[in-house]
Amino acid sequence: MALNVFERFIETPTLYRGENARALEPSYVPDRLPHREKEIERLAKMIAPALRGKVPSHAILYGKPGTGKTAVVKYVLRELKRLMVMKGVGELVHPVYLNCRSVDTSYSVLYNIALDLGCTRVPYTGWPLDRMEREVFNAIDRTGVVVILVLDEIDHLVDKGHEDALYLLLHMNEEIEEGGVSIVGISNDLKFAEKLEPRISSRLMGERLVFSPYNAPQLEDILRDRVELALVEGVVDDAVIKLCAAFAAQEHGDARRAISLLKKAVDIAEREGSEIVTEFHVYSAKAEIEIDSVAEVVRTLPIHAKVLLYAILLLGERDGATTTGSVYSAYRSICEHISGIRPLGSRSVSNLISELSVMGLINTEIKSFGRGRGRTRVIQPYVPIRETLRLLEDELTIDPDEISLGKQTNLLL
Ligand SMILES: Nc1ncnc2c1ncn2[C@@H]1O[C@H](COP(=O)(O)OP(=O)(O)O)[C@@H](O)[C@H]1O
Ligand SMILES: [Mg+2]
Repeated sequence: MALNVFERFIETPTLYRGENARALEPSYVPDRLPHREKEIERLAKMIAPALRGKVPSHAILYGKPGTGKTAVVKYVLRELKRLMVMKGVGELVHPVYLNCRSVDTSYSVLYNIALDLGCTRVPYTGWPLDRMEREVFNAIDRTGVVVILVLDEIDHLVDKGHEDALYLLLHMNEEIEEGGVSIVGISNDLKFAEKLEPRISSRLMGERLVFSPYNAPQLEDILRDRVELALVEGVVDDAVIKLCAAFAAQEHGDARRAISLLKKAVDIAEREGSEIVTEFHVYSAKAEIEIDSVAEVVRTLPIHAKVLLYAILLLGERDGATTTGSVYSAYRSICEHISGIRPLGSRSVSNLISELSVMGLINTEIKSFGRGRGRTRVIQPYVPIRETLRLLEDELTIDPDEISLGKQTNLLL
């Protein structure tokens, strides 16, 4: 009898523990957050007055990406909900978690609070802002509840010019007699407060909690917990954990990167049919992640920047490093192979070179070649050359065999 087409996929041994595989996903919030005990306690202490019907002072949480801000807040809110269920005080406090990457207008912030407070008739769009504000006001004023409003990645709201939601809510507190809204903002930017209008920052600035980057041993502890949850025993040894932690510690102590690096290494090992994850898998994972993140940036470049980067990569592949002059002539000849584009002038190209450098895709350096021989801008690719060339050939529909470059530049001459 023929095998069912699914059979061999089911039979493939997996390195993940079925029920807990999610523990290596970025959105997973574990039951324990090593090295964040102090932050958890401080946040809980800040919020605790809500359980006595008082509006806690507002707070801002700062820290670089991957330092556990979101995880800590979600953890504390989960504990708060658990406690309220246990004590049967479910209606007293309303934690509302919003991510301002998606909830990025004053209207949508108020709308989401209204929904959470049980105002079912509010429309997703269409009301004037002050009507929505009144709805929220009435809902709180009627019941005296305390809303703990977490605005994660709050910069998005402010950058889009929607900080008036903050003002309305802060102002509302002053009018409501019982209950109110406590705002917990989360930002990656220590200078966030400087972006706010004074009438907002003076009211919002209550508590301030700074999350510092994790060091390598701390990242190891975080990884160990997750490995234990997500993976079959014995597939990851300590050397692998240490390597992932060391890489992430170099990149500003980001736990998200540590976890996703490990996850990628596991996936590669699985793909190769290996029964254990080795350090070699971690190196491969690192390279893959780098390529993915470069690809994301490269895909969004404007067309001339793509052509220019392509020229720099070709020259870089052949000569190691190159100069503005060679890049310009290579760029012009590549343009001829792409229908519908006309080369930009040398000044614009020179500006584009600077932009690519600012984006970290290439390295530029002014080199002086000794007295009387002038100074030259030396240009080198700063991305994986082969993979990025293939990507650009796809994006620009270029046939590499058709392209011929100018003469070789030898910078060492
Ligand atoms: N102390 C910790 N213990 C366990 N996991 C953590 C810890 N800190 C961060 N993480 C995990 O790392 C990832 C990134 O953390 P996150 O809270 O999203 O960072 P931030 O919000 O500061 O950018 C998440 O998957 C999170 O669960
Ligand atoms: Mg976050």
